[in-house]
Amino acid sequence: MSDLKVLIRHDEIAKRVAELGAQITHDFAGQSIIFVGVLKGAAIFLSDLARQVKLDATFDFIGVSSYGNRPSPKQELKSGWDSTGEVKLTKDVDQSMKDKNVIVVEDILDTGLTLTFLKKLLLAHQPRNLKIAALLDKPSRRKLPLEGDYVGFKIPDEFVVGYGLDYAERYRNLADICVVPRQ
Ligand code: IMP
Ligand code: MG
Repeated sequence: MSDLKVLIRHDEIAKRVAELGAQITHDFAGQSIIFVGVLKGAAIFLSDLARQVKLDATFDFIGVSSYGNRPSPKQELKSGWDSTGEVKLTKDVDQSMKDKNVIVVEDILDTGLTLTFLKKLLLAHQPRNLKIAALLDKPSRRKLPLEGDYVGFKIPDEFVVGYGLDYAERYRNLADICVVPRQ
């Protein structure tokens, strides 16, 4: 797609990710962390963020998909993805989170359905602490009241790709975050 428009440049992303990493390092000083990345969109954010956190840390990954009538990518782009709220777990975490400091790492907080589901699931492990790190946040799309603890950028209701985010699985490898025009 040639008409992608850069919304957030890679150097701005790097700067903000370093700030979030410093904040996490400060907040959890002297403690260990488990980063739980939400596949696949958070892979790039997690790998950059974790390297900015100067603490003892391990990684885990969790996979989710939405049940039901997911529209075609074209339709999703046009009117957004308004899920019924049913989220299905496709890959669970590999280790117990009991008494651990857990930071769920997500690419984007949109309606809030995915992270509400994941929060509930991970709280059942009885972690010591559960925080949410989201690179992007579209507050105007929220359906469930949920805030990220470490948010990179608040953005308007645009469909974005790059830095891990996809459109029909493409563009995850773009260095910048770009807007896909809704035509
Ligand atoms: P939520 O459950 O509505 O908060 O959805 C979060 C998920 O929707 C993210 O993990 C993304 O996979 C997807 N998503 C939401 N907005 C965008 C976007 O602008 N570009 C790409 N994926 C998006
Ligand atoms: Mg996705």
